[in-house]
Amino acid sequence: MRLIIIGGGNMGGAILLALVKSKTIPPNDIMLIESDEEKRQKLSTVTGCNSQAEIDEAVRSYDQVMLAVKPQSSTAVMELLAQWVLPGQVVISVMAGISIKTMREVLGQPKMVRVMPNIPTLISEGMSVFFASEEVGIKEREGIKTLFDSCGSCLEAKNEDAIDAATAISGSGPGYLFYFAEQMVSSANSFGFTDDEAQKLVQQTIRGATLLWESQKVTPETLRQQVSSPGGTTLAALNHFQSKNVGESIKEGIQQAYLRAKELSS
Ligand SMILES: NC(=O)c1ccc[n+]([C@@H]2O[C@H](COP(=O)([O-])OP(=O)(O)OC[C@H]3O[C@@H](n4cnc5c(N)ncnc54)[C@H](OP(=O)(O)O)[C@@H]3O)[C@@H](O)[C@H]2O)c1
Repeated sequence: MRLIIIGGGNMGGAILLALVKSKTIPPNDIMLIESDEEKRQKLSTVTGCNSQAEIDEAVRSYDQVMLAVKPQSSTAVMELLAQWVLPGQVVISVMAGISIKTMREVLGQPKMVRVMPNIPTLISEGMSVFFASEEVGIKEREGIKTLFDSCGSCLEAKNEDAIDAATAISGSGPGYLFYFAEQMVSSANSFGFTDDEAQKLVQQTIRGATLLWESQKVTPETLRQQVSSPGGTTLAALNHFQSKNVGESIKEGIQQAYLRAKELSS
């Protein structure tokens, strides 16, 4: 597979680094198109991929074209791309809120894929959800899955609406966990732990709990019950959370994220 990435910013750069690090695509088969010279040089030097500043006929010699520019630049970039893209090429967009219908109107392209990655892609631990239009074949879908599995893990959605739902869960999810971590760090500080100590305590707790969850292959509910002895400390905190409807509040917040994703979609 030969891939063009348009936009080597936070997300495009992270995906490029993950693909090369995992040897999913040889650097020679990747072209980065990035208008900012400093970013372009840095990424092409580190990864060994081909690079150039502008979208031109070079697009035609690649199988897949990934759009990783900001949504506000998307129309201008797609109008440029429309001059070169070929009907057999797969266009993959990681741009939040830009629907396949909108992309198709500008690009006139049948094979379209929308992906919602998240920020841990920066360390090849991202969670990506993708939806492919029906024109994208099975082999091409497998290729997309391999591509985003190399950035962490990846799931194929059955409809485009699931991209907004994934935005509310995995896309925005790191922000929710950072918020929870913030409250734990602040509590640790109030007990007298230094900032460094507090962050270490919370980081390792979250990491250990996640790894344990993965290794045990049970639901979080089962694990929560296992660690909540009757009359114990964990249960004291969990009972308090429940009395304040924290669980409901989290679900309502996630619903707000979903509605906002829908509102921002065009
Ligand atoms: N960051 C995240 O966590 C995240 C998560 C999920 C989805 N996304 C999606 O990923 C996309 C990119 O986000 P980002 O945070 O990576 O943005 P970013 O850091 O601004 O990267 C976009 C890059 O594209 C370049 N660019 C703009 N127009 C171009 C053109 N015509 N040709 C070549 N390069 C061009 C920009 O250069 P200049 O700086 O010179 O304009 C910039 O370096 C967004 O649509 C966003 O919705 C991001």
